[in-house]
This record gives sequence, structure tokens and C-alpha cells, in this order.
Amino acid sequence: MIEKIEKLKIKAENDLKSCVSDKDFEDWRVNYLGRKSELSDILKNIKNLDQDQKKVVGSLGNKTRIELEGKFKDTKNRISGTIGTSKSSEDYSLPSRHISMGKLHPVTLTLREIRKAFVSLGFQIAEGPEIELDKYNFDMLNIPEDHPARDMWDTMWIDEKINKNGEKMLLRTHTSPVQARIMENQDPPIRVIVPGKCYRYEATDSTHEWHFYQVEGLAVDKNLTFSDLKGTLYEFAKKMFGSETKIRFRCDYFPFVEPGVDMSIYWEGKWLEILGAGMVHPKVFEKAGYKDKNLSGFAFGMGPERIAMIKHNIDDIRLFYSNDLRFLEQF
Ligand code: DAH
Repeated sequence: MIEKIEKLKIKAENDLKSCVSDKDFEDWRVNYLGRKSELSDILKNIKNLDQDQKKVVGSLGNKTRIELEGKFKDTKNRISGTIGTSKSSEDYSLPSRHISMGKLHPVTLTLREIRKAFVSLGFQIAEGPEIELDKYNFDMLNIPEDHPARDMWDTMWIDEKINKNGEKMLLRTHTSPVQARIMENQDPPIRVIVPGKCYRYEATDSTHEWHFYQVEGLAVDKNLTFSDLKGTLYEFAKKMFGSETKIRFRCDYFPFVEPGVDMSIYWEGKWLEILGAGMVHPKVFEKAGYKDKNLSGFAFGMGPERIAMIKHNIDDIRLFYSNDLRFLEQF
């Protein structure tokens, strides 16, 4: 009897696999689970078995019945696609299944806002490679091999470390190398911003990710001054955070600018730093091959994640890249 039930189960499962239409499913149900099915017969006749057979056959029979019912429901739902409907699968008037629309990522939205603000101030948009040469990431930006500032950018080197010309390669630690690439290829005047991804080999916490975005900025022209830098970034801050926004500059150090500053905005009672900036260092012009002594320029770099965190009151940068829809759907 036990063997009979087991064989029946295998046959039922196999037959279920070839069910396609509602009629197939209904036939299968009547055949294997209906009142006149073999399994029902077995269960009905348990009373005629002897005591110890009753127990074993009863429990196996009932277990099999429950399992087959479960498989039947699952398969039917999967194949017909609509849960709990008894309409034929050829009924095209059924409402379609709900497809949830994706949304733009909060960092994408912030990058778009930043782009829009600078484009309205006359800046162009450029991009550069994420796998960068040591030369552009450091040397051309006045960060030589033994410069202590290299410690600020713990670097992920590419496995081979060296390209076919014998140059070291890395995942760029900032977007500043694109400044050097632009100046190498283009004569002033330059007004450009460079959004892009950066990577650093460092432990993550609520304010540090190992990969993140930056938006670099560069303006080069005859006789640009620090006032131009201030005016441009003030306009940007107002476009980004509202027309009443206050800004503050403090001295800071970056090897590729002189003087260097950081800029903060006044936000909900606190000064919050949002970017680094400065006047392009003469050594950077020299390395780019610019010889005109009347040239000057300013540069800046900001983190869009940080800006999004301030604007939307987000307290952990890791939320951006942990793919939790409960977070992402709020934007
Ligand atoms: N590259 C800097 C960083 O990653 C940010 C930065 C600071 C960029 C000052 C600049 C600048 O262009 O002038 O921290």
C-alpha cells in the first residue's frame, strides 16, 4: 500500500508538470485529489486495514494529499500568473500584473541638480577614466611620489599595476586628474565640471564609503581671481540650497591649489563643509604646458553624497549603496 501511494505521488507530480491550461489543471485535480481519485479511495478504505497498517498508511496518505495540494496551487499560480482566478488563461480582458516603476537614485538626482546649477553658470561637462594613470592622479597635480599628501588618498592599484607603457594604474581617488587631462588637451578659456566615480582603499563608516562620486570644477582664463571663485561657488550654493544660503570659506590645504580653502554652508544652525577649492597652483599649469603668465584659474571638488545627505537629512553614507528599497523609494 505504501509503495502504491509513493508511485501515485510520483506520477501525479510528473503529470502536473505538463499542465498548461485551466482545463489541464482541473482534470489533474479531479484525477488525483477528487472524491473518486485513487488517493481518496485509499484513505476511505483505511478502516478496513489492520491496526498497525492503519497508522502508517493513514499518515502517509494524508501527508501526500497535503503535499500534492500545495504543489498544485503553486504550479497553477505560477503558470497562469494570476493568483486565485478561475478565468481561463485565454481571457485577455484580465487586468495586467502590476509592474512597479523604478526611480532615479538619490545620488543621480543630486548630480543632475549640481550639473544644472553649473550649466546655468556657463560651465561645460566633461568626464575622465575611472582607471587612471598614477601620473594624472598624482604627479600632474603636484603630488610627487614622496609627497606626504599621497597618504590622504589610500589607493586601490590595478593588479598588473603597470600598463604597456610601463605606467602605474589605479582606480582614481578623486576627479581632479581630469583637470590635468583637460588642460593637456585644451587651451583656455576653460569652464568645466567633471562628475564621476572615485575609489579609496579605506574602512567604511557612516561618513566614508570606499567608492563615491565627486564633482570636480575647473575654470582657467586670463586674470581670474579669488573673487571669481567665491562668486561662482556662492551662486552654486544658493541654487543648490536656497537663495538665503550663507557660505563660509576657511583655509585648507590641497597640493594642486594655492591658496586652498574649504567652503561650508550654514544649515539648520550649523556650518557644514561641502567642498574643497582654491586657485590653481602654478606648478599644475606648468605641468600641463601652459606658459602664459597672465593665466589664472580656480578649481573645486565636492561630494554629491555629502550634499544629498545634508539636503535630505541622511545620517549614513552607506545607505546609498546598500540597495535597500525602503531607503531608495523615498526619493
Ligand atoms: N580632490 C580633492 C579631494 O578629493 C577635492 C578638491 C579639493 C578638488 C580642492 C579641487 C580642489 O579641485 O581645488 O579631496
